[in-house]
Amino acid sequence: MLKLVQPQPKEERVPEEVKSTEQPQPTTPVQTSTDAEAALLFQREGEEPELDPLMQAIQDEMGQSLSPSSGGIGVVQDEIALTPFEQNEVFRAVNLTKAYGEGAAYNEVIKGVSFIVREGEYVIIYGPSGSGKSTLLHLLAGLEVPTRGEIRIRNQAFSALSEDDIALYHREGVGLVFQSFNLLDSLTVWENVAFPLMLAGAPLEWRQHEALKALDQFGLVDFANHYPNQLSGGQQQRVSLGRALVHDPELLLIDEPTGNLDSRSADLVVQEISRLHKQEGRTIILVTHSPVFLPYATRVFYIRDGTLLTSNEQNRIDPV
Ligand SMILES: Nc1ncnc2c1ncn2[C@@H]1O[C@H](COP(=O)(O)OP(=O)(O)O)[C@@H](O)[C@H]1O
Ligand SMILES: [Mg+2]
Repeated sequence: MLKLVQPQPKEERVPEEVKSTEQPQPTTPVQTSTDAEAALLFQREGEEPELDPLMQAIQDEMGQSLSPSSGGIGVVQDEIALTPFEQNEVFRAVNLTKAYGEGAAYNEVIKGVSFIVREGEYVIIYGPSGSGKSTLLHLLAGLEVPTRGEIRIRNQAFSALSEDDIALYHREGVGLVFQSFNLLDSLTVWENVAFPLMLAGAPLEWRQHEALKALDQFGLVDFANHYPNQLSGGQQQRVSLGRALVHDPELLLIDEPTGNLDSRSADLVVQEISRLHKQEGRTIILVTHSPVFLPYATRVFYIRDGTLLTSNEQNRIDPV
């Protein structure tokens, strides 16, 4: 069943004419929680929007300006909710919201985030520490339950999946990579890579075959019988990429993969992830505060205080 976002109350809706960026900007800005937010979301007449340095950096990096994507206003959320499903749509977030705490401690960490990811896209969600990147990725991975909003995978509502389906999604539908590698120290490198196959009950020979194939992609076959603590950080992260890919998932979700790496190891991981997109046509969502990934993305969202802004150029997909 479709469980798309509820229509916003009328007074919170943005006037019709704001929907197109070609139209004059509103002189009376829509209600937002703070002036700073309003300044970010809408360029008031005759004024440049305030950009924080990180946002300025991404704009410079991409050679294009940023515009509102979503965040408590309704327009873009409704557009995303109403956009018809097409065969190449892999993933959709609709008005995704996550709050922690209650009463005075209530803290909305993700504030109505909406976007669609299509086959072959490499989407980067870029923003400063504490902006909600990991929380958002955990929501996308189904590791945390949203307070409001909806995730759809291939047009299927995540909330409607059975426990078995969710387990299957984690095991086979999605490959996860984290900053801290999350390898099991008591298993060898190949056993770590093959771990998802073991959970799936695959026979030993198949597990070994597939693990070595995955390790070969990252030049790590010679380390198959080593233990993770015998490897450098960069090698461990590439092992964790191998583990994420061993099931040939249709979506890779990656959180700050170079956060624990020196710059040389980091560079190799950046290149490997780009190769997975360009050469293998993998669909990737990566969250990071590191600008080194940005040139490789097909689309960049900037995240600040749980709100997404996107580049103007939608769906810029490089030939794979
Ligand atoms: N389980 C939690 N309980 C309460 N607050 C949380 C929890 N997880 C994250 N937060 C808060 O959400 C905000 C965003 O955190 P996070 O998603 O880790 O940001 P980032 O990955 O961009 O650094 C932070 O202010 C953090 O304190
Ligand atoms: Mg984080």
